[in-house]
Amino acid sequence: MQKMWQGRFNEASSELLEAFNASIEFDKELYIQDINGSKAHAKMLAKCNIIDDETAKKILNGLEQIKSEIENGEFKFSIADEDIHMAIEKRLSQIIGAEFGGKLHTARSRNDQVALDFRLFALGANMEIAKLILDLIKTLSQIAKEHKSTLMPGFTHLQHAQPVSLAYHLLAYAFMFSRDYDRLINSHKRNNLSPLGSCAMAGTPHPIDREMVARELGFSGITPNAMDSVSDRDFALELLFNISLIFTHTSRLCEELILWSSSEFGYITISDRFSTGSSIMPQKKNPDVAELIRGKTGRAYGNLISLLTTMKSLPLAYNKDMQEDKECLFDSVKSAKNSLIILNAMMAEIKFNKENMLKACKTGHLSATDLADYLVKQKQIPFRQAHFITGKCVALAESLGKDLSELNLEELQSIEPSIDSDALGLLKLESSKEARKSIGGTSDYSVNIQLELIDKFIKSNDIER
Ligand code: ARG
Repeated sequence: MQKMWQGRFNEASSELLEAFNASIEFDKELYIQDINGSKAHAKMLAKCNIIDDETAKKILNGLEQIKSEIENGEFKFSIADEDIHMAIEKRLSQIIGAEFGGKLHTARSRNDQVALDFRLFALGANMEIAKLILDLIKTLSQIAKEHKSTLMPGFTHLQHAQPVSLAYHLLAYAFMFSRDYDRLINSHKRNNLSPLGSCAMAGTPHPIDREMVARELGFSGITPNAMDSVSDRDFALELLFNISLIFTHTSRLCEELILWSSSEFGYITISDRFSTGSSIMPQKKNPDVAELIRGKTGRAYGNLISLLTTMKSLPLAYNKDMQEDKECLFDSVKSAKNSLIILNAMMAEIKFNKENMLKACKTGHLSATDLADYLVKQKQIPFRQAHFITGKCVALAESLGKDLSELNLEELQSIEPSIDSDALGLLKLESSKEARKSIGGTSDYSVNIQLELIDKFIKSNDIER
Protein backbone atom coordinates (compact mmCIF):
# COMPACT_ATOMS: atom_id res chain seq x y z
CA MET A 1 0.00 0.00 0.00
CA GLN A 2 1.18 3.53 -0.88
CA LYS A 3 2.25 5.51 2.22
CA MET A 4 1.45 9.20 2.61
CA TRP A 5 5.18 9.86 2.84
CA GLN A 6 6.06 7.45 -0.05
CA GLY A 7 7.37 10.15 -2.46
CA ARG A 8 11.08 9.84 -1.78
CA PHE A 9 11.10 6.05 -1.32
CA ASN A 10 11.82 3.46 -4.02
CA GLU A 11 11.04 0.34 -1.98
CA ALA A 12 7.95 -0.62 -0.02
CA SER A 13 8.16 -0.91 3.78
CA SER A 14 9.10 -4.19 5.39
CA GLU A 15 6.17 -5.82 7.16
CA LEU A 16 8.35 -5.86 10.25
CA LEU A 17 8.69 -2.09 10.10
CA GLU A 18 4.99 -1.62 9.53
CA ALA A 19 4.04 -3.57 12.64
CA PHE A 20 6.81 -2.07 14.77
CA ASN A 21 6.22 1.53 13.76
CA ALA A 22 2.45 1.62 13.97
CA SER A 23 0.68 3.21 16.93
CA ILE A 24 -2.85 2.93 15.60
CA GLU A 25 -3.77 0.04 17.87
CA PHE A 26 -3.59 2.33 20.88
CA ASP A 27 -3.74 5.89 19.54
CA LYS A 28 -7.17 5.27 18.01
CA GLU A 29 -8.26 6.28 21.51
CA LEU A 30 -7.50 9.84 20.31
CA TYR A 31 -9.95 9.76 17.39
CA ILE A 32 -12.31 12.36 18.84
CA GLN A 33 -9.53 14.80 19.72
CA ASP A 34 -8.07 14.29 16.23
CA ILE A 35 -11.40 14.98 14.50
CA ASN A 36 -12.17 18.02 16.66
CA GLY A 37 -8.66 19.37 16.09
CA SER A 38 -8.95 18.86 12.33
CA LYS A 39 -12.33 20.60 12.23
CA ALA A 40 -10.96 23.64 14.06
CA HIS A 41 -7.93 23.64 11.74
CA ALA A 42 -10.07 23.45 8.58
CA LYS A 43 -12.31 26.31 9.74
CA MET A 44 -9.27 28.43 10.44
CA LEU A 45 -7.69 27.62 7.04
CA ALA A 46 -10.91 28.80 5.33
CA LYS A 47 -11.19 31.94 7.48
CA CYS A 48 -7.59 32.84 6.59
CA ASN A 49 -8.25 32.14 2.88
CA ILE A 50 -5.72 29.33 2.81
CA ILE A 51 -8.42 26.93 1.54
CA ASP A 52 -11.78 27.89 0.03
CA ASP A 53 -15.11 27.63 1.84
CA GLU A 54 -16.35 24.77 -0.32
CA THR A 55 -13.30 22.64 0.52
CA ALA A 56 -13.69 23.44 4.21
CA LYS A 57 -17.35 22.42 4.10
CA LYS A 58 -16.53 19.11 2.43
CA ILE A 59 -13.77 18.47 4.98
CA LEU A 60 -16.10 19.19 7.93
CA ASN A 61 -18.81 16.90 6.56
CA GLY A 62 -16.30 14.17 5.78
CA LEU A 63 -14.89 14.36 9.32
CA GLU A 64 -18.42 14.08 10.76
CA GLN A 65 -18.98 10.96 8.68
CA ILE A 66 -15.70 9.45 9.88
CA LYS A 67 -16.71 10.17 13.47
CA SER A 68 -19.93 8.22 13.09
CA GLU A 69 -18.16 5.41 11.22
CA ILE A 70 -15.76 5.02 14.15
CA GLU A 71 -18.51 5.26 16.75
CA ASN A 72 -20.65 2.69 14.92
CA GLY A 73 -17.75 0.29 14.60
CA GLU A 74 -17.68 0.58 10.79
CA PHE A 75 -14.25 2.18 10.49
CA LYS A 76 -11.49 -0.14 9.29
CA PHE A 77 -8.35 0.37 11.36
CA SER A 78 -5.23 -0.91 9.64
CA ILE A 79 -1.60 -0.87 10.80
CA ALA A 80 -0.65 0.10 7.25
CA ASP A 81 -2.07 3.55 8.12
CA GLU A 82 0.48 3.85 10.95
CA ASP A 83 -1.49 6.07 13.29
CA ILE A 84 -4.92 7.58 13.91
CA HIS A 85 -3.92 10.86 12.25
CA MET A 86 -3.07 9.25 8.90
CA ALA A 87 -5.95 6.79 9.11
CA ILE A 88 -8.47 9.62 9.40
CA GLU A 89 -6.80 11.75 6.75
CA LYS A 90 -6.71 8.83 4.31
CA ARG A 91 -10.36 8.00 4.89
CA LEU A 92 -11.25 11.67 4.44
CA SER A 93 -9.73 11.67 0.97
CA GLN A 94 -11.60 8.46 0.14
CA ILE A 95 -14.88 10.10 1.12
CA ILE A 96 -14.51 13.61 -0.35
CA GLY A 97 -11.76 13.03 -2.90
CA ALA A 98 -8.04 13.68 -2.56
CA GLU A 99 -8.34 17.05 -4.34
CA PHE A 100 -10.19 18.31 -1.25
CA GLY A 101 -9.07 15.94 1.53
CA GLY A 102 -5.43 16.51 0.58
CA LYS A 103 -5.71 20.17 1.60
CA LEU A 104 -6.49 19.52 5.29
CA HIS A 105 -2.84 19.00 6.23
CA THR A 106 -1.82 22.46 4.91
CA ALA A 107 0.07 24.42 7.59
CA ARG A 108 0.10 21.43 9.90
CA SER A 109 2.43 18.55 10.74
CA ARG A 110 1.74 15.33 12.56
CA ASN A 111 4.09 16.70 15.20
CA ASP A 112 1.80 19.55 16.23
CA GLN A 113 -1.24 17.41 15.44
CA VAL A 114 -0.28 14.68 17.93
CA ALA A 115 0.84 17.29 20.46
CA LEU A 116 -2.63 18.84 20.18
CA ASP A 117 -4.60 15.58 20.34
CA PHE A 118 -2.65 14.21 23.27
CA ARG A 119 -2.89 17.49 25.16
CA LEU A 120 -6.64 17.65 24.62
CA PHE A 121 -6.92 14.10 25.96
CA ALA A 122 -4.80 14.90 29.03
CA LEU A 123 -6.72 18.10 29.80
CA GLY A 124 -10.07 16.33 29.53
CA ALA A 125 -8.91 13.43 31.72
CA ASN A 126 -7.50 15.93 34.22
CA MET A 127 -10.92 17.51 34.73
CA GLU A 128 -12.72 14.16 34.90
CA ILE A 129 -10.36 12.98 37.63
CA ALA A 130 -10.70 16.30 39.46
CA LYS A 131 -14.47 15.84 39.55
CA LEU A 132 -14.10 12.30 40.93
CA ILE A 133 -11.74 13.58 43.64
CA LEU A 134 -14.32 16.18 44.60
CA ASP A 135 -16.98 13.45 44.82
CA LEU A 136 -14.75 11.50 47.19
CA ILE A 137 -14.18 14.60 49.37
CA LYS A 138 -17.97 15.06 49.52
CA THR A 139 -18.45 11.47 50.70
CA LEU A 140 -15.73 11.81 53.34
CA SER A 141 -17.24 15.05 54.64
CA GLN A 142 -20.68 13.41 54.76
CA ILE A 143 -19.41 10.46 56.81
CA ALA A 144 -17.38 12.79 59.04
CA LYS A 145 -20.53 14.77 59.91
CA GLU A 146 -22.18 11.60 61.19
CA HIS A 147 -19.19 10.61 63.34
CA LYS A 148 -18.09 13.67 65.29
CA SER A 149 -18.65 11.81 68.57
CA THR A 150 -17.43 8.38 67.40
CA LEU A 151 -14.23 7.74 69.36
CA MET A 152 -11.33 5.74 67.99
CA PRO A 153 -7.64 5.46 68.82
CA GLY A 154 -5.37 7.78 66.88
CA PHE A 155 -2.14 6.00 65.98
CA THR A 156 1.54 6.74 65.63
CA HIS A 157 3.87 3.85 64.69
CA LEU A 158 0.59 1.89 64.37
CA GLN A 159 0.46 1.96 68.20
CA HIS A 160 -2.44 3.50 70.11
CA ALA A 161 -1.55 7.14 70.73
CA GLN A 162 -4.42 9.47 71.67
CA PRO A 163 -8.21 9.26 71.36
CA VAL A 164 -9.64 11.06 68.32
CA SER A 165 -13.00 11.17 66.60
CA LEU A 166 -13.60 9.17 63.43
CA ALA A 167 -14.69 12.46 61.83
CA TYR A 168 -11.26 13.89 62.54
CA HIS A 169 -9.46 10.88 61.05
CA LEU A 170 -11.55 10.99 57.85
CA LEU A 171 -11.08 14.74 57.52
CA ALA A 172 -7.32 14.14 57.34
CA TYR A 173 -8.03 12.33 54.06
CA ALA A 174 -10.42 15.02 52.88
CA PHE A 175 -7.68 17.65 53.21
CA MET A 176 -5.18 15.32 51.52
CA PHE A 177 -7.51 14.94 48.54
CA SER A 178 -8.24 18.67 48.45
CA ARG A 179 -4.55 19.23 47.71
CA ASP A 180 -4.76 16.65 44.90
CA TYR A 181 -7.72 18.55 43.49
CA ASP A 182 -5.84 21.86 43.61
CA ARG A 183 -2.82 20.33 41.90
CA LEU A 184 -5.00 19.04 39.04
CA ILE A 185 -6.69 22.40 38.54
CA ASN A 186 -3.35 24.17 38.70
CA SER A 187 -1.83 21.85 36.09
CA HIS A 188 -4.88 22.30 33.86
CA LYS A 189 -4.49 26.08 33.98
CA ARG A 190 -0.79 25.92 33.14
CA ASN A 191 -1.20 23.55 30.21
CA ASN A 192 -4.44 24.83 28.69
CA LEU A 193 -2.63 26.26 25.62
CA SER A 194 -2.96 25.16 22.01
CA PRO A 195 0.21 23.90 20.28
CA LEU A 196 -1.47 23.71 16.84
CA GLY A 197 0.25 25.85 14.22
CA SER A 198 3.71 24.89 15.50
CA CYS A 199 3.87 22.57 12.48
CA ALA A 200 6.94 20.34 12.25
CA MET A 201 8.88 22.49 14.74
CA ALA A 202 9.63 25.89 13.21
CA GLY A 203 6.20 27.37 12.46
CA THR A 204 4.77 27.92 8.96
CA PRO A 205 4.93 30.47 6.13
CA HIS A 206 1.10 30.26 5.74
CA PRO A 207 -0.88 33.17 7.22
CA ILE A 208 -2.58 31.10 9.95
CA ASP A 209 -4.58 32.24 12.98
CA ARG A 210 -3.51 30.10 15.93
CA GLU A 211 -5.67 32.05 18.39
CA MET A 212 -8.79 31.15 16.42
CA VAL A 213 -8.00 27.42 16.62
CA ALA A 214 -7.31 27.80 20.35
CA ARG A 215 -10.65 29.54 20.96
CA GLU A 216 -12.50 26.99 18.87
CA LEU A 217 -11.09 24.13 20.97
CA GLY A 218 -11.64 25.80 24.35
CA PHE A 219 -7.99 26.59 25.14
CA SER A 220 -7.19 29.75 27.09
CA GLY A 221 -4.36 30.70 24.71
CA ILE A 222 -1.53 29.42 22.50
CA THR A 223 1.95 28.07 23.24
CA PRO A 224 4.71 30.62 22.59
CA ASN A 225 7.50 28.56 20.98
CA ALA A 226 6.93 25.98 18.22
CA MET A 227 10.01 23.92 18.98
CA ASP A 228 9.02 23.57 22.62
CA SER A 229 5.38 22.95 21.68
CA VAL A 230 6.01 19.86 19.55
CA SER A 231 8.46 18.33 22.01
CA ASP A 232 6.75 19.22 25.29
CA ARG A 233 5.05 16.40 27.21
CA ASP A 234 5.06 18.14 30.61
CA PHE A 235 1.25 18.14 30.61
CA ALA A 236 1.27 14.33 30.45
CA LEU A 237 4.03 14.04 33.05
CA GLU A 238 2.21 16.37 35.42
CA LEU A 239 -0.94 14.30 35.07
CA LEU A 240 1.02 11.07 35.62
CA PHE A 241 2.57 12.57 38.73
CA ASN A 242 -0.76 13.89 40.00
CA ILE A 243 -2.31 10.47 39.46
CA SER A 244 0.63 8.83 41.25
CA LEU A 245 0.19 11.09 44.27
CA ILE A 246 -3.58 10.46 44.26
CA PHE A 247 -2.76 6.75 44.32
CA THR A 248 -0.32 7.32 47.18
CA HIS A 249 -3.21 8.82 49.11
CA THR A 250 -5.86 6.27 48.12
CA SER A 251 -3.38 3.48 48.95
CA ARG A 252 -3.03 4.85 52.48
CA LEU A 253 -6.79 5.06 52.89
CA CYS A 254 -7.25 1.58 51.41
CA GLU A 255 -4.53 0.15 53.65
CA GLU A 256 -6.45 1.46 56.66
CA LEU A 257 -9.73 0.06 55.35
CA ILE A 258 -8.05 -3.33 54.94
CA LEU A 259 -6.67 -3.21 58.49
CA TRP A 260 -9.90 -1.89 59.96
CA SER A 261 -11.97 -4.63 58.30
CA SER A 262 -9.75 -7.40 59.71
CA SER A 263 -10.93 -9.29 62.78
CA GLU A 264 -7.92 -7.93 64.68
CA PHE A 265 -9.38 -4.41 64.39
CA GLY A 266 -13.06 -4.96 63.59
CA TYR A 267 -13.61 -1.18 63.20
CA ILE A 268 -15.55 -1.44 59.93
CA THR A 269 -17.69 -3.79 57.88
CA ILE A 270 -17.39 -3.38 54.13
CA SER A 271 -20.72 -4.10 52.45
CA ASP A 272 -21.20 -7.47 50.73
CA ARG A 273 -21.64 -5.59 47.46
CA PHE A 274 -18.01 -4.54 47.59
CA SER A 275 -16.47 -7.68 49.10
CA THR A 276 -15.42 -10.99 47.58
CA GLY A 277 -15.31 -14.56 48.84
CA SER A 278 -12.70 -17.29 48.76
CA SER A 279 -12.93 -20.29 46.44
CA ILE A 280 -11.85 -22.64 49.25
CA MET A 281 -12.59 -21.03 52.62
CA PRO A 282 -16.35 -20.55 52.88
CA GLN A 283 -16.14 -18.15 55.83
CA LYS A 284 -13.92 -15.58 54.07
CA LYS A 285 -14.95 -12.08 53.13
CA ASN A 286 -12.14 -10.21 51.46
CA PRO A 287 -11.56 -6.47 50.87
CA ASP A 288 -10.43 -6.96 47.26
CA VAL A 289 -11.45 -3.50 46.08
CA ALA A 290 -9.20 -1.78 48.61
CA GLU A 291 -6.39 -4.23 47.88
CA LEU A 292 -6.66 -3.69 44.13
CA ILE A 293 -6.56 0.08 44.47
CA ARG A 294 -3.52 -0.28 46.74
CA GLY A 295 -1.97 -2.59 44.13
CA LYS A 296 -2.66 -0.33 41.16
CA THR A 297 -0.46 2.29 42.82
CA GLY A 298 2.60 0.37 41.66
CA ARG A 299 1.52 0.53 38.04
CA ALA A 300 0.76 4.24 38.30
CA TYR A 301 4.28 4.94 39.63
CA GLY A 302 5.71 2.75 36.85
CA ASN A 303 3.86 4.76 34.20
CA LEU A 304 5.28 8.01 35.58
CA ILE A 305 8.84 6.68 35.65
CA SER A 306 8.33 5.22 32.18
CA LEU A 307 7.51 8.56 30.55
CA LEU A 308 10.06 10.50 32.60
CA THR A 309 12.70 8.12 31.31
CA THR A 310 11.46 8.28 27.71
CA MET A 311 11.66 12.08 27.76
CA LYS A 312 15.03 12.23 29.48
CA SER A 313 17.90 13.50 27.27
CA LEU A 314 15.74 13.72 24.12
CA PRO A 315 17.22 16.30 21.77
CA LEU A 316 14.80 18.90 20.41
CA ALA A 317 12.35 18.72 18.83
CA TYR A 318 10.01 15.78 18.04
CA ASN A 319 11.52 12.27 18.22
CA LYS A 320 9.68 9.04 17.56
CA ASP A 321 10.51 7.94 21.10
CA MET A 322 7.62 10.17 22.06
CA GLN A 323 5.12 7.77 20.53
CA GLU A 324 5.76 5.78 23.72
CA ASP A 325 4.01 8.53 25.70
CA LYS A 326 0.47 7.32 25.13
CA GLU A 327 -0.11 3.86 26.60
CA CYS A 328 1.24 4.82 30.02
CA LEU A 329 -1.05 7.83 30.27
CA PHE A 330 -4.10 5.97 28.93
CA ASP A 331 -3.45 3.23 31.49
CA SER A 332 -3.00 5.57 34.46
CA VAL A 333 -6.05 7.66 33.55
CA LYS A 334 -8.28 4.62 33.18
CA SER A 335 -7.08 3.09 36.41
CA ALA A 336 -7.40 6.37 38.35
CA LYS A 337 -10.96 6.92 37.13
CA ASN A 338 -12.07 3.35 37.84
CA SER A 339 -10.42 3.34 41.27
CA LEU A 340 -11.92 6.65 42.38
CA ILE A 341 -15.41 5.69 41.22
CA ILE A 342 -15.45 2.38 43.08
CA LEU A 343 -13.66 3.73 46.18
CA ASN A 344 -16.29 6.44 46.50
CA ALA A 345 -19.16 3.97 46.08
CA MET A 346 -17.62 1.54 48.58
CA MET A 347 -16.89 4.25 51.19
CA ALA A 348 -20.54 5.36 51.14
CA GLU A 349 -21.64 1.85 52.18
CA ILE A 350 -19.11 1.15 54.93
CA LYS A 351 -20.55 0.37 58.37
CA PHE A 352 -18.47 1.76 61.23
CA ASN A 353 -18.52 -0.45 64.33
CA LYS A 354 -18.49 2.21 67.04
CA GLU A 355 -18.43 -0.23 69.96
CA ASN A 356 -15.25 -1.92 68.71
CA MET A 357 -13.57 1.43 68.16
CA LEU A 358 -14.48 2.53 71.66
CA LYS A 359 -13.26 -0.75 73.11
CA ALA A 360 -9.95 -0.25 71.31
CA CYS A 361 -9.64 3.18 72.93
CA LYS A 362 -9.62 1.51 76.32
CA THR A 363 -6.36 -0.25 75.71
CA GLY A 364 -3.04 1.51 75.31
CA HIS A 365 -3.41 4.22 77.98
CA LEU A 366 -4.59 6.79 75.44
CA SER A 367 -5.04 9.52 78.05
CA ALA A 368 -1.42 9.44 79.24
CA THR A 369 -0.66 12.76 77.55
CA ASP A 370 -3.66 14.27 79.35
CA LEU A 371 -2.25 13.29 82.73
CA ALA A 372 1.12 14.81 81.84
CA ASP A 373 -0.60 17.99 80.59
CA TYR A 374 -2.61 18.14 83.85
CA LEU A 375 0.57 17.99 85.95
CA VAL A 376 2.07 20.79 83.88
CA LYS A 377 -1.02 23.02 83.88
CA GLN A 378 -2.36 22.44 87.40
CA LYS A 379 0.75 21.52 89.35
CA GLN A 380 3.40 23.59 87.56
CA ILE A 381 5.56 20.49 87.11
CA PRO A 382 8.00 20.84 84.16
CA PHE A 383 6.79 18.78 81.17
CA ARG A 384 9.81 16.44 81.13
CA GLN A 385 9.22 15.51 84.78
CA ALA A 386 5.44 15.23 84.22
CA HIS A 387 6.18 12.84 81.35
CA PHE A 388 8.29 10.70 83.74
CA ILE A 389 5.62 10.65 86.48
CA THR A 390 2.95 9.68 83.95
CA GLY A 391 5.18 6.89 82.69
CA LYS A 392 5.29 5.56 86.26
CA CYS A 393 1.47 5.69 86.45
CA VAL A 394 1.24 3.77 83.16
CA ALA A 395 3.61 1.12 84.53
CA LEU A 396 1.44 0.83 87.65
CA ALA A 397 -1.71 0.44 85.54
CA GLU A 398 0.03 -2.25 83.45
CA SER A 399 1.03 -4.15 86.61
CA LEU A 400 -2.58 -4.00 87.84
CA GLY A 401 -3.94 -5.11 84.45
CA LYS A 402 -5.87 -1.83 84.05
CA ASP A 403 -5.98 1.02 81.58
CA LEU A 404 -4.59 4.34 82.87
CA SER A 405 -8.10 5.84 82.73
CA GLU A 406 -9.24 3.13 85.18
CA LEU A 407 -6.79 3.95 88.01
CA ASN A 408 -8.40 5.40 91.15
CA LEU A 409 -7.16 8.44 93.04
CA GLU A 410 -5.29 6.44 95.66
CA GLU A 411 -3.37 4.54 93.04
CA LEU A 412 -2.47 7.75 91.19
CA GLN A 413 -1.42 9.46 94.42
CA SER A 414 0.85 6.53 95.32
CA ILE A 415 2.99 7.73 92.40
CA GLU A 416 2.46 11.51 92.67
CA PRO A 417 0.85 12.76 95.92
CA SER A 418 -0.09 16.14 94.45
CA ILE A 419 -2.63 14.61 92.00
CA ASP A 420 -6.20 15.72 92.93
CA SER A 421 -9.56 14.19 92.15
CA ASP A 422 -10.07 16.67 89.28
CA ALA A 423 -7.46 14.64 87.34
CA LEU A 424 -9.85 11.65 87.19
CA GLY A 425 -12.31 13.44 84.88
CA LEU A 426 -9.53 14.54 82.57
CA LEU A 427 -8.43 10.97 82.03
CA LYS A 428 -11.80 10.03 80.49
CA LEU A 429 -11.50 9.43 76.72
CA GLU A 430 -14.20 11.93 75.81
CA SER A 431 -12.54 14.68 77.89
CA SER A 432 -9.19 13.88 76.33
CA LYS A 433 -10.66 14.39 72.86
CA GLU A 434 -12.58 17.53 73.88
CA ALA A 435 -9.53 19.06 75.56
CA ARG A 436 -7.80 19.42 72.20
CA LYS A 437 -9.41 22.66 71.14
CA SER A 438 -6.38 24.04 69.31
CA ILE A 439 -6.93 24.86 65.63
CA GLY A 440 -6.47 21.60 63.74
CA GLY A 441 -7.22 19.50 66.83
CA THR A 442 -9.70 16.68 67.39
CA SER A 443 -12.24 18.41 69.70
CA ASP A 444 -15.74 18.98 68.30
CA TYR A 445 -15.00 22.69 68.26
CA SER A 446 -11.87 22.21 66.10
CA VAL A 447 -13.49 19.54 63.89
CA ASN A 448 -16.44 21.84 63.16
CA ILE A 449 -14.01 24.46 61.85
CA GLN A 450 -12.40 21.81 59.63
CA LEU A 451 -15.77 20.62 58.35
CA GLU A 452 -16.68 24.19 57.47
CA LEU A 453 -13.42 24.58 55.55
CA ILE A 454 -14.02 21.38 53.59
CA ASP A 455 -17.62 22.32 52.81
CA LYS A 456 -16.47 25.73 51.62
CA PHE A 457 -13.87 24.00 49.45
CA ILE A 458 -16.51 21.69 47.95
CA LYS A 459 -18.92 24.55 47.31
CA SER A 460 -16.40 26.83 45.67
CA ASN A 461 -15.11 24.07 43.38
CA ASP A 462 -18.27 22.16 42.55
CA ILE A 463 -18.08 21.81 38.79
CA GLU A 464 -21.71 20.73 38.62
CA ARG A 465 -22.92 24.14 39.85
N1 ARG B 1 2.22 8.39 15.86
C1 ARG B 1 3.11 9.48 16.11
C2 ARG B 1 3.23 9.69 17.63
O1 ARG B 1 2.41 9.22 18.32
C3 ARG B 1 2.58 10.73 15.50
C4 ARG B 1 3.63 11.75 15.19
C5 ARG B 1 4.53 11.27 14.12
N2 ARG B 1 5.38 12.29 13.62
C6 ARG B 1 6.38 11.99 12.83
N3 ARG B 1 7.11 12.97 12.42
N4 ARG B 1 6.67 10.78 12.50
O2 ARG B 1 4.14 10.33 18.13
